[in-house]
Amino acid sequence: MSELVHPVEQEAAPVVASLSRVAKRYGDHTVLDYVDFTVRKGEVVALVGPSGTGKTTLLRLLAGLESATGGRTEVSGNTSVVFQEPRLIHALRVWKNVLLDDADKPDAQALARAALHDVGLEDKLASWPVSLSGGQAQRVAVARALYRRPDLMLLDEPFSALDAFTRRSIQSLVLKLWARYRFGLVIVTHDLDEALILADRIVILSKGSICHETRVDLPRERDVTSPEFNALKRELLGQFSLSVA
Ligand SMILES: Nc1ncnc2c1ncn2[C@@H]1O[C@H](COP(=O)(O)OP(=O)(O)OP(=O)(O)O)[C@@H](O)[C@H]1O
Ligand SMILES: [Mg+2]
Repeated sequence: MSELVHPVEQEAAPVVASLSRVAKRYGDHTVLDYVDFTVRKGEVVALVGPSGTGKTTLLRLLAGLESATGGRTEVSGNTSVVFQEPRLIHALRVWKNVLLDDADKPDAQALARAALHDVGLEDKLASWPVSLSGGQAQRVAVARALYRRPDLMLLDEPFSALDAFTRRSIQSLVLKLWARYRFGLVIVTHDLDEALILADRIVILSKGSICHETRVDLPRERDVTSPEFNALKRELLGQFSLSVA
């Protein structure tokens, strides 16, 4: 399993995405208000916060799916997004779902096979999406994201619909892939355990602003039963309660 990237190393790593004093409004509804947010290459950031507070909006800005109303948004390199639901196209076999527009390339199947191998689903290459379990479908979505060799991977509550056992195994898979490819990773989650298992840094967004950040300097794989893990969890729960007050 991956080793902890030392914070000093991370501070030297290039920035793959940054928001500076970013605002996002829909009509007269301000969703994000002067948000400063940076992700470096090889860094895992978990974004948590109450429902409706702007987490998905922030991710969509980083993905280029929305534009900000104010401030500066800078993203360098390729960006891939995995949403809460796998968003597979049911009329396409698994390998074509991975490649999408690249499915006509001469070496298409081999490219898809390599991406599916990364997520342990090489044998599902020719399957139809309807025949996959929820966890398998989400792994195909991860393969599709990986195929684009992202510098920045954005995950919006990607495992929340999965049972606890499957979720833990996909969390391990994501960490394995992150250790291999070292993309910057931003994951939105409601699950503080998930945030603490995955992230180098946890950011709490509340009412459209960042209200707290915690660095997680624990070696991976993280032991959810350790006193250090649980001390950080208690601190986060306290901050989380303040953010919804
Ligand atoms: N296209 C849109 N038009 C108008 N309002 C929008 C649009 N997209 C999001 N919003 C509003 O922005 C706010 C933040 O939404 P967002 O989806 O970013 O929240 P979230 O933190 O991801 O919530 P959840 O945890 O429930 O997924 C909500 O009040 C939502 O109604
Ligand atoms: Mg959301």
